[in-house]
Formats: sequence, structure tokens, C-alpha cells
Amino acid sequence: MAKQERVIVIDFGGQYNQLIARRVRECSVYSEVYPNTISMDEIRELSPKGIIFTGGPSSAYKEDSPSISTEIFELGIPILGICYGAHLMAHLLGGKVGSAPVSEYGRTEVSLIPSSVIFKNVSMDTIVWMSHTDYIAEVPEGFSVTGSTRSCPVAAMADPSRKFYAVQFHPEVNHTVEGQKIIRNFVYNVCGCVGEWQISSFADKMVESLREKIGSGRVLCALSGGVDSSVAAVLLSKAVGKQLTCVFVDHGLLRKDEGDEVEAVFGPSGAYDLNFIRVNAADRFYQKLSGVSEPESKRKIIGEEFIRVFEEESKKIGTVDYLVQGTIYPDVIESGLGKSATIKSHHNVGGLPDYVDFKEIVEPLRLLFKDEVRAVGRELGIPEHLVSRQPFPGPGLGVRIIGAVTPEKIKIVQEADAIYREEVAKAVESWREENKGGKFPDWLPDQYFAAITNMQSVGVMGDGRTYDYAVALRAVHTSDFMTADAVHLPWELLDIVTNRIVNEVKGVNRVLYDCTSKPPGTIELE
Ligand code: XMP
Repeated sequence: MAKQERVIVIDFGGQYNQLIARRVRECSVYSEVYPNTISMDEIRELSPKGIIFTGGPSSAYKEDSPSISTEIFELGIPILGICYGAHLMAHLLGGKVGSAPVSEYGRTEVSLIPSSVIFKNVSMDTIVWMSHTDYIAEVPEGFSVTGSTRSCPVAAMADPSRKFYAVQFHPEVNHTVEGQKIIRNFVYNVCGCVGEWQISSFADKMVESLREKIGSGRVLCALSGGVDSSVAAVLLSKAVGKQLTCVFVDHGLLRKDEGDEVEAVFGPSGAYDLNFIRVNAADRFYQKLSGVSEPESKRKIIGEEFIRVFEEESKKIGTVDYLVQGTIYPDVIESGLGKSATIKSHHNVGGLPDYVDFKEIVEPLRLLFKDEVRAVGRELGIPEHLVSRQPFPGPGLGVRIIGAVTPEKIKIVQEADAIYREEVAKAVESWREENKGGKFPDWLPDQYFAAITNMQSVGVMGDGRTYDYAVALRAVHTSDFMTADAVHLPWELLDIVTNRIVNEVKGVNRVLYDCTSKPPGTIELE
């Protein structure tokens, strides 16, 4: 794609590096994250309109802390330093950074100098999110103080002549009430961006470039019905039509009716021009899983069987030129910056086999954040239920059934989960109606589902004793899926769901709500 206007984010180990890039993109300016080892030549080559230094846990004045060549200040590119990035800017330009007498953490009121261009239209006294133990004790030459709090004398500093700005607080997080305005001011009023990054034009450009790249080649895509693979498949279908074959492996561990829903959208009666192969492999998976209750073994079996099935299907198709992968930008950042991805690695069961015969991998979504993938999906007209789908694990219900997987337990978890999702959707709708639409309730979870525990307990139904399963309901708020909090779902909603499950799902006499955060729990139960 042609070189585009961009603001780059240089990562110094902060937890919000991706969030900063997302915030910049929300201003319609393309943004990417680079490690602090990026060379000055690479930066010149990228010719960004602006640079943002992220926060990080280190102390700028310590020798082994992540740093960057001072040449960066000679490139004539505007720079915004955030938290550690602010300290580093102060330290490298000759100011003084020290350990603060009082560290600040959490929401803090800051007094800003409104004449500073990055605080244009921002209130003089505003709430920001602080998280630091070091502080700027003395600003470098050429800088002036543009904000302070009760215990932090330099909450912001600026040298407008060189277009260097720094803030001690985190404008990228929602707790900083006017943070997005500050980022916008930097991007537009300091860097002079015009705002070229439009998700609507992304789809058109991507289809065009895929068509050019692939020519008359054949393309193979493992379609799961999840957001990423669905959007990738539709982009490819628009680009090369029937040269694309999508293989959808139904392992029998999908949610209720999900296999048919995917087929309805992508199959022969759906709207897309592509070859669709659905492999109903449930029996194979059930057989392999029979009697296996250890969670890691179940994951391994499901992952390996998936690869076998996919491999068999691709052999039938013969040599293909391209294999599609739904890699998205957060995956690229995580591997590209050399950070440990251990927490996620076990999730990649069901990753693609590397012995399928193909020449090259195509990753049409590798520049996009999840929200942007969804936006492209909407732009392409993919049905909302697929575009706004919750994350669903590769091993499917296999990790939502504690202990051995049996057809009875699969049926129970499918039915209970369908009821749960239906009632949450209804409750959200009526909340929005009462609250005049638009906004979603605070309690709307980022992920929620029913699981079946391996516990059977005594109950009473009618006049008879029962000895049935307990279903567990889970609902979490999370921004990165690495940590999560249990959501306080309205009691009335839980009440309705519980009643419906025990009345409508045979084999269940108890419903439990999982109140555990992650850590120490995980989101899935296995
Ligand atoms: P955990 O259970 O590790 O889940 O807290 C974090 C997020 O990852 C999803 N998850 C998986 N996704 N394959 C996947 O593709 C997996 O094996 C897998 N295990 C968990 C989970 O749904 C949550 O969103």
C-alpha cells in the first residue's frame, strides 16, 4: 500500500502501548508500535508525522533502563512523552528525574496551562490517571511547566519551539477524562496530520491489493466462523471469488446451532462467492476425547485432530498458492516486540498445519486492531451476529465442560449457554430502551458463557429427588484477556437465567455464578 500519514509509538515497556496506537487511530491517523531498539534510519524511512514515547516500569536515570538515541530529538519530528516517556525525554535532554517524595497512583486532579496547544479545549482542572514513583524534578532547557498536581510539580511540560511535549499522566486510558482530546491535539495541532486513516477505505484498498497479489492463484482458508477468519474470508472472496476455498471444521464442540449459522452465511445459499467445505467431524472428535478428563490432554487432542482433519481436506484440494491467516495487529505486536506470549501460547491449539502445500501466507488483517476488524466486517456487510461475536476458544466447549466430554454434557452446556446469551441480549435491549438507546449498560460483559461443572448434587423437583449437574455461569470484564474481573450482573437477570436453565435444561438442578477474577482464576474453566 502507498505510504501513508502515520504517528509511531515507541514502546518502553508500558502496559498501554497498544492502547496509545488505538487512540491515535481513533483520530483517523494510522499508528504503529515499534520497540525502543528501532534505528534512526528506520524512523527516517517511516517518516512519521509524530512520535509518542510510551510509559514503562523502569527509572529513566538508571543505566540499564530502556532508552533511545538522542539523535531522535534532531529529526525535526514532534514528540509526545507519556509517563516514563516523559521522564526519558527530560533525562535525555538535560533535565532532572528523581524518585518522587510521594508516588501517585489512580485518579488525580491536575491543573493545566490552557494556552499549551496540546491542552486546547481541555478544562484547566481535569481528572487524569497517574501511575508513577519517579517524577521530573527539573525540566530541561527550553521547556516550561504546563501542568501540575498537588504532589507532582511537573505533571506536564512543553517546548513548543521544538514541538516536544510530555505528560506525567496517561492520556490514553479512559480514566483520564479528557485524554482523547489531548491525543487529538497532539496529532492534529502539533503534528499537523490531516486524518487519512479511514476503515471504510481500508476494505476497498485491501481487496484491490489482494487481487493484484494473488492474480489467478488458489487460496485456502480455515474458517472458524469467528470474527477474524470471517472478515479475512470475505475480503478474499471479494478479491478472488471462487479461487478461494474455505474449510470449516465442525468439531461438534460449537455453541448451539453455530455450525448451521456459519454455513448459512458462507455456504452455497449464502451471499459470498467462494467454495465452502463443511466437515462434520464431531464423531471423530468425540471418539478421541472419550474418557479423557485432563484439561491439557483435551486441548491437545482437539488441536491435533483439527489439524488432521484440515490436512485431509486440503490434500483433496491439492496444491494451493496462498494460505489465509487471520492474524491481527495485537498478535503482530506481541511477537514482533519479542515479548513473552506464554499466557496465550496454549491458546493456539488449532493453529494451522505447516505441512499443507502452499507457497505463501496472506494475512489481510495484520494491521488492524480487533475493533477495526469488526468495523471492516460491518463495512463488508457481514451479519452483525458474526461481527460482534464474543471470543470463543479454539477447543470450543471442550474447555467449558469440566472432566470428560460426553454428548449429554455437550447438550447441557449448549442449551444452558443459549438461554444465558438470549437473556443477556434481552436484558441489554430493555436497558437500552429504558435508557433511550445508544449507550450500553456498564455491566455488559466482554465475555460471558455457561460451563458445566463435573459436580452432581442432590435437588428436588416436583416431589422427587434429583441428582443432576451444576451449571456455572461466567461473565467478565476485561480489556486484554490477560486479566479479568467478574461482572456484577443484575440479580434479576441471574434469577431469570437460573430459573430457565433448571426448568428447561434436562439434567441440571443447580446454577452457580463464578465470582472469581483472573488471576487467580482464568476466564475459561479449563
Ligand atoms: P483464559 O481461559 O486463558 O482465556 O483466561 C483468555 C481468553 O482466551 C480464550 N481462550 C482461548 N482461545 N484457544 C483460543 O483460541 C484456546 O485454547 C483458548 N483458551 C482460552 C478465552 O475464551 C478468553 O477469551
